[in-house]
Amino acid sequence: MTKHVKMLAVATVVVLAVPALAGPVTLKDAYKSDFVIGAAMDAAQISGADAKAQAIVKAEFSSISPANALKWEKVHPAPDRYDFRLGDQYVEFGQANHLFTVGHVLLWHNQTPDWVFRDGSGNLLTRDALLARLKDHIDTVVGRYKGKIKAWDVVNEVVGDDGKMRETLWSKIIGEDYIAKAFEYAHAADPEAELLYNDYNIEYPGKRAGALALVKKLKAEGVPITTVGIQAHYLINEPDLKLLDETIAAFGALGVKVALTELDIDVLPRPGDQVTADIKLHLAADPKFNPYVNGLPEAVQRQLTERYSEIFKIALKHKDVVDRITLWGVTDGDSWHNNWPIKGRTAYSLLFDRAGNAKPAVAAVISAARP
Ligand code: XIL
Repeated sequence: MTKHVKMLAVATVVVLAVPALAGPVTLKDAYKSDFVIGAAMDAAQISGADAKAQAIVKAEFSSISPANALKWEKVHPAPDRYDFRLGDQYVEFGQANHLFTVGHVLLWHNQTPDWVFRDGSGNLLTRDALLARLKDHIDTVVGRYKGKIKAWDVVNEVVGDDGKMRETLWSKIIGEDYIAKAFEYAHAADPEAELLYNDYNIEYPGKRAGALALVKKLKAEGVPITTVGIQAHYLINEPDLKLLDETIAAFGALGVKVALTELDIDVLPRPGDQVTADIKLHLAADPKFNPYVNGLPEAVQRQLTERYSEIFKIALKHKDVVDRITLWGVTDGDSWHNNWPIKGRTAYSLLFDRAGNAKPAVAAVISAARP
């Protein structure tokens, strides 16, 4: 190399290095060496009808979850009928864009048709018949996306709000080993997939104790659980984030990974400020529970920004345990909080506003990664 060429090479390196010094500009790049950052996609986003949100997913996120597309009622609506149209589009989108693609959910007590638990005459199935039906469902759905869906929520919300195992038709008909069976079937259908137990409010000590006992027992029995999903459907001041910090540490100590699987922050008041993600909760509309129809006040925006930033800082502190943070939606307009627990509200739960612009929380979350 001549001296001139050498100088040119050095100059090029310096110029190329400048943008890096300015810091990362997307969420996924900011957290690249820590964990993947996901967003849940609804049907319009999966199909491309909502092109604006799809573009945000491609630009900012490294993982996707299906808000509803792979729930039992969607993917397996009748005993002998599977419907993979939306599921296939979802997985193709993930493949085409190199996204860590998540499956949600194999076994739940909600969004599961009643026929699942009954025979042709409407009587409850026997244990063996329900296990056979569960195995067929898991073999078919997990098998179809083997190697493409990298993590499955195997069981959802199996611990009750009282910290005891939740009683559902699954537990009643099969008995307490229904959870172990679901994990075994999922592992057999795709031995490489990460397998989760997913739940809400397991930050609170009472319910957390139940969830910890469950995971401890499953691990001791050799059940192939890899990860605990903390849903993280939060309010603006509940739960105290100290509880999140403790919870991640407590599950990490059991030898499982932790993912925040459905993160969003409801800034709107609720009657009694109930902290829950029970989708069956429906409360009456009242203007006092929908205070920000004309926009979010600055002070609340700041609180939201601060809270998002704190959550990501806590996850970073535990980056050896945390492998993913997924937001439950892309823009405020498509958050489920617009219609739950009260219909027709104007929610501000996510990181992008209704127009698709990054809210101040995005910059705060990015700088939390590289202070
Ligand atoms: C929600 C979806 O976002 C809504 O579109 C649907 O109407 C109800 O379910 N916990 C879960 C998710 O595990 O599947 C739920 O998703 C939110 C609570």
